[in-house]
Amino acid sequence: MNKMKIGVTGGAGYIGSHVVLSLLEQGHQVIVIDDLSSGSMKNVFSDESSYTFIQEDFSSEKGLKTLFDFLPDVVFHFAAQKAAGVSMQHPEHFSKHNIRSTLKLIEALSQSECGNFIFSSSAAVYGKPEYLPLDEEHPLRPLNYYGFTKQCIEENLKWFSRLGKMRFASLRYFNAAGYNINNQIQGIEKDANNLLPVIMETAIGKRPILDIFGTDYDTKDGTCLRDYIHTDDLAKAHLLSMEYILKEGKDLFVNLGGAKGASVLEVLQLAEEVIGKKIPHRFVGRREGDPPALFASSEKAYKILGWKAEHSSLKEVIESTWKVYFASL
Ligand code: UD1
Repeated sequence: MNKMKIGVTGGAGYIGSHVVLSLLEQGHQVIVIDDLSSGSMKNVFSDESSYTFIQEDFSSEKGLKTLFDFLPDVVFHFAAQKAAGVSMQHPEHFSKHNIRSTLKLIEALSQSECGNFIFSSSAAVYGKPEYLPLDEEHPLRPLNYYGFTKQCIEENLKWFSRLGKMRFASLRYFNAAGYNINNQIQGIEKDANNLLPVIMETAIGKRPILDIFGTDYDTKDGTCLRDYIHTDDLAKAHLLSMEYILKEGKDLFVNLGGAKGASVLEVLQLAEEVIGKKIPHRFVGRREGDPPALFASSEKAYKILGWKAEHSSLKEVIESTWKVYFASL
């Protein structure tokens, strides 16, 4: 496809950096706006001819001006708060960053020459599944405020599109995990909350113990089932989604998952095998807002984008993550 100018918020973050890497590999010109509140300088690339990094809040006047002065053809929006558990204690952080700041970006985009937006949504928009695997037609009833913030933006995107202001793809990630298989991304998360980073931090001694949230769910071993999807697979889906909205001129809501559920205990056991040592853990109560099981139907992604997960076996996900955490020692 033609080489394009791409604006990326949160491009120094975990998923954003994987997507930026793929965009650069395809020869696009990229500007990343990231305030490094959770992103990492380690995820900032040095290819100066096609990559510009600006440390700034994307929603500030300066951030928005810098982004749209670049005249992007497409904007990818990753910068957001994502700890679903924290969103239940501090909804105000999530309304500010995930809703208000994102609306500022959408407003600015709708008034610019750029009419194409790729949004990082989440499986959290669905809430407790009425059936599994989850497809895109499933009702949206988020169980946590984080999921609501994503749903709220999706609703706004529908309106802005209907009113002729933009095209968009909203990508509903299941549990993003793993690191670039060619080892080109090394930044680890600052305030890890997700299962795999927490397991890794426990393995390298950065935290003393892993808490397993809930053992009385109606699942095979009592712990929650999730659909872990490799970030390289996610990155590929972003590029395909961009091509789709540009070529077809249509909006897209799509699940990105591997259609397999793994329990917290299965992840822990395989991580212990890969790492080659026991990881201290204890069983504690449920975390508020956690549905028992979540996994995706990826049929639509396959049908519409020709996408399917290629690197998302639990083993590949854990091995690639361990490489990065081990190297950080
Ligand atoms: C949530 C969102 C998901 C989002 C992700 C981003 C929901 C339902 N899902 O994923 O859409 O993309 O956040 O961060 O809101 N666990 C432990 N101990 C820990 C950490 C996690 O037992 O220290 C368990 C959790 O209870 C859960 C599983 O591991 O059952 C995965 O948790 P996590 O990695 O935090 O992701 P989700 O909450 O599933």
